This record gives sequence, structure tokens and C-alpha cells, in this order.
Amino acid sequence: MNFELTVLPVADISGELEVIIVVDTNLKHRFVQDKKLLKKAGFSCGQDETCLLIEKNRLYVGAGSLKSTDIRRAAANALKALKGTKYKSIKVATYTNKGCTYTLRAMIEGFILGGYSFETYKSKKNKSRIKEISVSLEEYSELTLDIEKAAEQVHKAQIIADATNFTRDIVNTTPDDCYPDVMASIAEGMAEDVGLECTVLKPKQLRREKMETLLAVARASRHNPRVIHLTHKPKNAKHKITLVGKGLTYDSGGLSLKPADYMVTMKSDKSGGSAVLGIMKAVAELDLPIEVHGFVGAVENMIGGDAYKPDDVLVAKNGKTIEIRNTDAEGRLVLADVLCYAQQEVKADYIFDFATLTGASVVAVGHYTSSIMGNNKEIQNLVVREAQNAGELATALDFNDYLKKTIKSEIADVCNISNTRYGGAITAGQFLSEFIDKKHIDRWAHIDIAGPAFVEHPWGENPHGASGAGVRMIVKLLEKLAQEKEIHQKG
Ligand code: BES
Ligand code: ZN
Ligand code: ZN
Repeated sequence: MNFELTVLPVADISGELEVIIVVDTNLKHRFVQDKKLLKKAGFSCGQDETCLLIEKNRLYVGAGSLKSTDIRRAAANALKALKGTKYKSIKVATYTNKGCTYTLRAMIEGFILGGYSFETYKSKKNKSRIKEISVSLEEYSELTLDIEKAAEQVHKAQIIADATNFTRDIVNTTPDDCYPDVMASIAEGMAEDVGLECTVLKPKQLRREKMETLLAVARASRHNPRVIHLTHKPKNAKHKITLVGKGLTYDSGGLSLKPADYMVTMKSDKSGGSAVLGIMKAVAELDLPIEVHGFVGAVENMIGGDAYKPDDVLVAKNGKTIEIRNTDAEGRLVLADVLCYAQQEVKADYIFDFATLTGASVVAVGHYTSSIMGNNKEIQNLVVREAQNAGELATALDFNDYLKKTIKSEIADVCNISNTRYGGAITAGQFLSEFIDKKHIDRWAHIDIAGPAFVEHPWGENPHGASGAGVRMIVKLLEKLAQEKEIHQKG
């Protein structure tokens, strides 16, 4: 999708169709030229409503307000409404909120995210044909915008939304086509394209690194595991940030096999790792002045004579022993080793891990929201705030000592499941905290994206399938860290 910015009014620029975003049901605004027709069509211009006047080549879309979230959704709805039409180019006026360019950025993101569809396995493609979008700097709220400032926001929005779609593509790919070695090749190809360093660890090196819990989860699969390490290391970088992602290319549950209905969509168990790949792509393209390391544990959890078992005791990379009582709680085992490895390789100012870790997170906060955990309230709050600024929903879940006791084991240092079915997102997070060393313990946040990572019923700017959850959230946070002069660490 190409975007062209112009100072000309929207009426004077070319574009096969004009998109008009109607804000707060204000049909009296000068952008609205078809008030009578719209009323006749029953268009009440609410958020998520669209009205295509095909003879006029105008598409009206409703937005609740000029806030970024509403404009992003409206722009996404515009592209969704045009799917299947023959339009190749559209034009639209700038939308900013009191001259603030965030809303313009959200509009561009909305167009790219809403225009996404995954059609690799369809014989007949029905992709959005829109390739050219002309944006007039004629503004909804009649402010004038600096063209350079606007162009910069458009460029950033493109990078971030394209990175989100890159993540969506990986997650949507079927487990037979995207197994650990393929995920590693995708990482290597992307790294080469954008100028990142990339190292891939294969079983021999994983054994040398004593990543026995990760290897145990991978054992019954015909696909060998991989650990991917991507590095963005600009000169004079201000901060060091580590990202770790769960990349279960398929989660059958292992011997604690998932029931049939719950196994479907488990190709999306690689969403955390795929988000890390998307974030690293965006970080490189934005050339953020911070050092960022992305680690992915790419593994397939299967059944077979060689499978790891409930009753096994595994030894993690940091020497802690883990009693296995359920092989479906495999993500935390993979992350345990990758977190240890990441901390050994990089002493970071912040560590963020991303995982579709628990169904309990979905039960607790719903399908739209990520759960943010950790030992440092400030970092949890930082992630929640930047997620919201980026258009993602996130909420903090707090650890407590009572739940911590529920993952004690009679025979090992820790058990891979809790002795209670309640609070499962938190107990999984507390399990991970066993693998965070002293130096990093209050520099770490765990992000459970099990709810929003995979979309069965489209919502907001997310069509069916992978949403790319985590990408916008953390790129926004990294942009903020890149702007900061110093890190204010607690403890
Ligand atoms: N990958 C699943 C979690 C999940 C569930 C992600 C639904 C997305 C949607 C994870 O590996 C898992 O199976 N967790 C178990 C943990 C349990 C055995 C303690 C779960 O949530 O049921
Ligand atoms: Zn599982
Ligand atoms: Zn899983």
C-alpha cells in the first residue's frame, strides 16, 4: 500500500473513491456532502458503521470520536468495506486530534491492518485491491499540519502496521508449513532484509547450553527445535532490552492431550515468538537508538513413544528441578530455558516475554486483552499504558504469595502446574519468575497474549485469524524508551 501526502484539499486530488470518516455522528461537517442520501440509507454514523455510495464513489464510515482508537477502527472498517470491490486507489482527508499526529498515524495503521487478509490457502483470492491512498492535509479540525511531521508519522505507521501483518502471516501459516526450522528461516530472511544479526541454535548447541526442559518438550516431534536470537545493536545505544517469545509451532498438549475442540487454533501458540520477530523487524526499520535482543523458543509439542511425561522431573538451564504433572503446560518449560539463556547472553535493562501461555488469562480478562505480570508495578503500568497508546488492550494482574505456594512440589523445586484451577494466568507467571535471576527480577514483565493473539470473531482492526498482538504495544514502548534520556530503575 502506497501513501501520498498532499497539501491540496481533498476535492482537488485524484482517487477513484473518497473515504469520509464521520466523527461523533456529525453529519453537519463540511466533509459530508450526502446528508440526505445517508439518512435515506439509514446510516446513523456510529462507530463500526459504513455506508458505500457506489454511484458517488464515496464511502462513509463512522468514528465515535477523534481519538486514535476510534479513527484506527474506522479506517480499518473502510478497507474491510471495500474488499471485493474493484477500487484500486482512494483519497481521504487528514484526521488529527487538535493537531496531534498520533491520530493520523492511527488512521494509516487502520488502513493497513484492516486491509489485511490471509489467503495463502485459498484457490480464489479476494485480496484488497487498494494500492494507492492519497491523504490530503486538509484537516478535519481545520488545523494546518506540518507536511514533514505528517510524513514522518505516515512512515512510522507503515513500518509498524506492516510488521504486525508480518507477524500475522507467520501465525496464520499452518503447523505443517511453519515448524521450528521454518520459523528460524523466516527470522534469518527477515534479518538479512532489514540488517539484524541472527543466530540460530540447533539441538546440539541446545544440549551444550543445557536447555533440557525445552528439549524435553520438543522430543516427540519429528521437527527439531530451534532457539532464535536476533540483535539490533546501533552505535551509542542508550538502553538494552531483551524480548523473549513462546514459539510453539503447534501445541497438541502432548501426552496430556488437548480435547479436539481445544486443539483447533493451536497453530497460534507461536504468536509470542512471531510477535518478537515482528517487533525486531520494526525496531530495525525504525532504527531505534536502543540495543534490542529478540529470543524465540521454536518448538512443537507432540505425542509419541518418546514424549516427555507427567511424573517426569526435568532440570532447567538454571539448575532448578521441575515436576511435570501436565505436558500441556509446556510453554512455561520452553520459556524457562529461553529466559535463562537470554539472561546469560545479555544483561538487559528490561526483559519482556510474550506468550499465549494460559487459557486462564482468557477466562480472567477476555479475548481482547493481554495480561501483564511481573514483580515491578511500574514496569507493569508502563506496559499497560503504552499498550493502550498503541491501540492494544492490556491489564495488570498482580502476583501474591498465596498463589506462589500452589506451584510447590513435594519432589522437585517447583511444579509445572498449580494445585488449584483458579488464578492460572498468575501461577504461570509466578512459575516463570523462578527463572528470572536476581539482577533482572524487577526489570521483567510477562505478557500473556492468549486472549487477543488469535481472532475467531473479527473485532476492531483485526480480521479473522492472527491479530499480531504485542507488536504495536512493545514497539510503542520501545519508541518511548528510545526517547528517554535515562532509565529510572526501582530497586
Ligand atoms: N497454549 C496453551 C494456552 C492457550 C489456551 C493459548 C487457549 C491460547 C488459547 C498452553 O500451553 C496450555 O495449554 N495451557 C494450559 C495450562 C494448564 C495445563 C495448567 C491451559 O491453559 O489450559
Ligand atoms: Zn499447552
Ligand atoms: Zn501452549
